[in-house]
Amino acid sequence: MHVDLFIHSAAQLLTLASDGPKRGVAMEELGIIEHGAVAVKDGLIGLVGPTSEVRGQVTAAEEIDAAGKVVMPGFVDPHTHLVFASDRADEFEQRIKGATYMEIMAAGGGIMNTVRATRAASLDELVAQARERLDEMLAHGTTTAEAKTGYGLDIENELKMLEAIWILDKAHPIDLIPTLLGAHAVPTEYQGRAEEYVDLVIDEMLPLVVQRGLEELWGRKEEAPAAPPLFCDVFCEEGVFTLEESRRILTKAKELGLGLKIHADEFSSLGGAALAAELGTIAVAHLLCTPPEEMALLAEAGTIAVLLPGGTFGLGQRAYADARGLIAAGVPVALGTDLNPGTCWCESMQLIAALACRFMEMTPAEAIVAATINAAHAVRLGDQVGSLEVGKKADILILDIPDYRHLSYRFGVNLVDKVIKGGGGSAVPSATLRTGLTTGLVVGGLHLA
Ligand code: NIG
Ligand code: FE
Repeated sequence: MHVDLFIHSAAQLLTLASDGPKRGVAMEELGIIEHGAVAVKDGLIGLVGPTSEVRGQVTAAEEIDAAGKVVMPGFVDPHTHLVFASDRADEFEQRIKGATYMEIMAAGGGIMNTVRATRAASLDELVAQARERLDEMLAHGTTTAEAKTGYGLDIENELKMLEAIWILDKAHPIDLIPTLLGAHAVPTEYQGRAEEYVDLVIDEMLPLVVQRGLEELWGRKEEAPAAPPLFCDVFCEEGVFTLEESRRILTKAKELGLGLKIHADEFSSLGGAALAAELGTIAVAHLLCTPPEEMALLAEAGTIAVLLPGGTFGLGQRAYADARGLIAAGVPVALGTDLNPGTCWCESMQLIAALACRFMEMTPAEAIVAATINAAHAVRLGDQVGSLEVGKKADILILDIPDYRHLSYRFGVNLVDKVIKGGGGSAVPSATLRTGLTTGLVVGGLHLA
């Protein structure tokens, strides 16, 4: 087979091969091939195996010697609020001085603070600010990411956010999966009239944004399966959206054919996890105070728990989600950054894995599973990314470490040597990548940095 790229001699090649999301003890299995090799053809994985076996089967346009290094699939970040304007450094300081996240939100700051800035920003400004974050994500090994709206909170601005995501998906190597989060907060102009805002989301915002998002931006007509999955998410939380409001919004989203997600049990337990199981939600995020009986419901429904230790760390809290309890209950666990300006401005899945090991007692292997194959399933792309298997996208990391456990063990620096984004997105000229990137980036076989 003549291939575009042949990566060989890896100390460890982690395939993450799996039929579906991994649960229980399977979350420890990385599918390690020592002296491993992977061959890339037309943006897809052509062959994977021991170097001694693969070498004889390929001639390659380009070779990379990964001796002494770990080769693994690119990270999938299944939960980000990537697109936003400005920052909330002032609130960070207020929290250090004692104010809580929910107090700041109740006083009109928090999410609304970013909503005001995002509404005031032009589409171009939103794209430019988010692009810098995407460059950091790519440099740190993320090759696919979910991106939520939710800082517009009116039809015009939610559409503007969706358009920014669409532009970035096209313009940047990272593939983006859009999620509508019109129910991220009740905007100030609807204060005291939450029910009316929920009606607006259900009757107007969701149908319109779905139509414009799928038909105009992603060009999906009936039956065209090529469009990316589109999700709907709700922030189900005391002082934000009640369980009943969350149920109404997600039920409507389901009718419209959207994949479902929910932010549940971040600060209080309202029954959001049980609702997720009941509605067949693909992923449920946060789960900091989920009762054991609701964990059992998630396991039964096959809902993926997306844990976000960066948010807990970012808020300086001490109590993390019970990853051990979820894994023991049989819930597939994924990890995400939750990248957002309020609780976690962090682009690096490497740091998230390091936090998961220390504060949620996940093993280094479980953290890698959670950040790749399980995260891919959490955005319904488990058949395309998240593992190095023949036919999947050639989204590959070469890490400058001799053993997979160094990922999580070492933190605070970038362990990525090269990112190969072969399977999608279009190549960006190197000039648009931030200067100072030390990562070698290969896009579609093309070296960019
Ligand atoms: O996932 N919890 C709700 N949303 C985000 C925070 C968003 C913000 O504060 O801007 C989260 O933590
Ligand atoms: Fe979030």
